[in-house]
Amino acid sequence: MKILVTGGAGFIGSHTVVELVNAGYEPVIIDNFSNSEHSALEGLQQILGRDVICYENDCNDPDALDTIFQKEQITGIIHFAAYKAVGESVASPMKYYRNNLDSTMLLLEKMEQYGVKNFVFSSSCTVYGQPEKLPVTEETPRLPAQSPYGNTKAICEDIIRDVVRANAPIKAISLRYFNPIGAHPSALIGELPLGVPSNLVPFVTQTAAGLREKITIFGDDYNTPDGTCIRDYIHVVDLAKAHVQALRLLDKQTEGNYYDVFNVGTGQGNTVLELVQTFEEVNDLKLNYSLGPRRPGDVEKIYAEVDKVNNIMGWKAEKTLADSLRDAWRWQQKLTSK
Ligand code: WQD
Repeated sequence: MKILVTGGAGFIGSHTVVELVNAGYEPVIIDNFSNSEHSALEGLQQILGRDVICYENDCNDPDALDTIFQKEQITGIIHFAAYKAVGESVASPMKYYRNNLDSTMLLLEKMEQYGVKNFVFSSSCTVYGQPEKLPVTEETPRLPAQSPYGNTKAICEDIIRDVVRANAPIKAISLRYFNPIGAHPSALIGELPLGVPSNLVPFVTQTAAGLREKITIFGDDYNTPDGTCIRDYIHVVDLAKAHVQALRLLDKQTEGNYYDVFNVGTGQGNTVLELVQTFEEVNDLKLNYSLGPRRPGDVEKIYAEVDKVNNIMGWKAEKTLADSLRDAWRWQQKLTSK
């Protein structure tokens, strides 16, 4: 069972490739390496003890996709490849709409053309905006996206839903990730942020490694226990395993027209300050941080209700925040030692 993993050399994609092999699937990567590095393939080789097929192409390239579908017996697709920087999407919306929407539509067209049935889409909790009620369930209404990036996720979900409804053989699941963090315990693969990280944990680990002078905590006047934002931080290995469970659930669906959405989080919220202090404790170090003004566009608090993914997909997060922060630091030390 060959699974096409778009963006498979990226952060979540590479960790999912490991779990696919562990589960007996045969991953085929397509990645244009615009936001990933070839070193991820070396890391995968060391973890798996074998090479993984990788096509260095853009999943917006129909000819490249034709070559792959004609050569490889693809039975399913996990679609990670997308631009994902919230701030950049505000500055360059067309780049985001063109890339993120076109790739999804092209893959769905190729699925029809080549009789590929199963599609797992990388969506995001950002589609909920700032929810009224917490924890968020899959029935929590999606709010107008706070960024073009978030809007591309919501629009892609709707495109997939409508295509599945119209094309029986195709079955699909959208996974709404909360905040993926950490790295593979081997420290052979992990997050490789381009330039200055906008996400919290890579900024924390780079500050701890002395690559950044200090970290600013954006806002301490929110309506939360310590005034800092609340998020649901999920270990990337747990998140990767959720994709395997999603494929298994799709394999079980006998008729087409199956489409569903699942929150993939731990079900627990932690504040930024709790994360920073946990990082210091588990790694026995002191971080240079200060409290600063809010970051525009941030939601105050969001964390997942995970009954549906636990009960229907048979998946549950196993790793703790401490595990994630320990693995994130081990990965950063490996990077910095190179
Ligand atoms: C987390 C918290 C910041 C940096 C975004 C996207 C989401 C997904 C993950 C792609 C917030 C605070 C951060 C810093 C800080 N993207 N923070 N100092 O914004 O929850 O989610 O990234 O898949 O779709 O929306 O993640 O890590 O940027 O921020 O205080 O230097 O950390 O204010 O409260 P976010 P994040």
